[in-house]
Amino acid sequence: MIPSDTLIDDLRGMLGDHGVLTDPGDMARYRTDWAGHAGGMPLAVVRPGTTDQVADVVSYCHRHDVPLVPQGGHSGLVDGALPSTEFPELVVSLERMNGVRELDPINFTMSVDAGCVLQTIKDTAEEADCYFPLALGAQGSCQIGGNVSTNAGGLNVLRYGMTRQLVLGLEVVLPDGRIYHGMRTLHKNNTGYDLKQLFIGAEGTLGIVTGVVLKLFPRPQVSRTALLGCADIDAVLKLYALARRCCCDLLTAFELIPRRCLELALGAAPDLQDPLDDAHPTYVLLEVAASGPADLDGMIETLFERGLEAGWLADGVLATSETQAQQLWLIREAMLEGQRRTGEHLRTDVSLAISALPAFHEAASRAILEACPEATIIAYGHVGDGNLHFNVLPPSSLPESDRSALLHDLESRLFDVVDEFDGSISAEHGIGRLKQEAFLENLSAPEYDLMRGLKHLLDPRALLSAGRILPSPNR
Ligand code: LAC
Ligand code: ZN
Repeated sequence: MIPSDTLIDDLRGMLGDHGVLTDPGDMARYRTDWAGHAGGMPLAVVRPGTTDQVADVVSYCHRHDVPLVPQGGHSGLVDGALPSTEFPELVVSLERMNGVRELDPINFTMSVDAGCVLQTIKDTAEEADCYFPLALGAQGSCQIGGNVSTNAGGLNVLRYGMTRQLVLGLEVVLPDGRIYHGMRTLHKNNTGYDLKQLFIGAEGTLGIVTGVVLKLFPRPQVSRTALLGCADIDAVLKLYALARRCCCDLLTAFELIPRRCLELALGAAPDLQDPLDDAHPTYVLLEVAASGPADLDGMIETLFERGLEAGWLADGVLATSETQAQQLWLIREAMLEGQRRTGEHLRTDVSLAISALPAFHEAASRAILEACPEATIIAYGHVGDGNLHFNVLPPSSLPESDRSALLHDLESRLFDVVDEFDGSISAEHGIGRLKQEAFLENLSAPEYDLMRGLKHLLDPRALLSAGRILPSPNR
């Protein structure tokens, strides 16, 4: 590989001094993610300001055999964008490419740079009486290029789909430095292979996304948030099917929050109130929204009446003000912080057929508790999409040094159950490096050959995000 000094000089020549970071202190924040995982020391961090600059850097790396990894907002959680600990890599941060290129309120589209923060996109859409529905805990810091590269899910998937369903066009710098210009604003386009799909969910292994055309929706005019207390997950899913029907399919979120998660939230945000008089084994946080006049209160009242009558619902509260609705959503947010504070634990994002969730939950809990009776299971999440964050906290008495081995063992037991139920080991966070071993175990030969073939076609030198999703052949 090219000597490091020459590399840095050449990069500075392309991007200017402020576009290249080499000081370990300056690079520190590009080496850790939200969960506290740490990456290796990069060759440098480059911060290009334009697509052409990204292309210049990538083309240079291609010619000089320099491995590189694109990076967004550090909240992917599968160690996909942290610099490798095994070989030196150049980090390409898209954070300076954060502009909105165009918004078309008649075509319901918005074109943005890949480094644009999700919250900025949502706010800009609202100013034009439009709505961009992707919603997740990290929306104040995550970047749309990362959302596209990981095909992010989040809270509103059951109504609007994953990121893949929200992308109409892409601009991508290919691993050899050429640019794929696909910023098309067409709602329908059936001309040959749909190339943009290759890069959505590819976790940066096939190209660097630099621009995105997003699909917008009319801005919701009315919305209601409710929290329901239930006896178990079986009741929760019966309520889910009822809610979709009672609420005219206007449901935008349907989140499972077990009591333990509510307690974690109350611990992390002491200002929050326990929302119902009595404690319930599990809760549902639901949201209904419409872009025009609709009797949402009436719909939710019917849901309450019918749920109570059927015995699926024990108690519930419908937020009567925006502030109260926000308080309920704060529980969902604070729960994540509460969880993070417990230290290293098992995080997963499995998915199953929605109707299989109760039996899966029981079988998975049994498998975990047989192996470690003192573990705490916190299985929460987007049950309306069949997606559970089946997470496990190790016993607090366990020494730090023994945590990793236990969590690894519990993960493989859990994934065996996922496999028995024909589920997926990752519904939304992807593979990165953290889930690679489990992912490869279940990949069939045709699937492996197709994936390897695509990777080789686009990145024959295996320089881009090497070792993520698939193992790298030469590193
Ligand atoms: C959540 C993130 C972690 O749903 O996916 O909480
Ligand atoms: Zn999630």
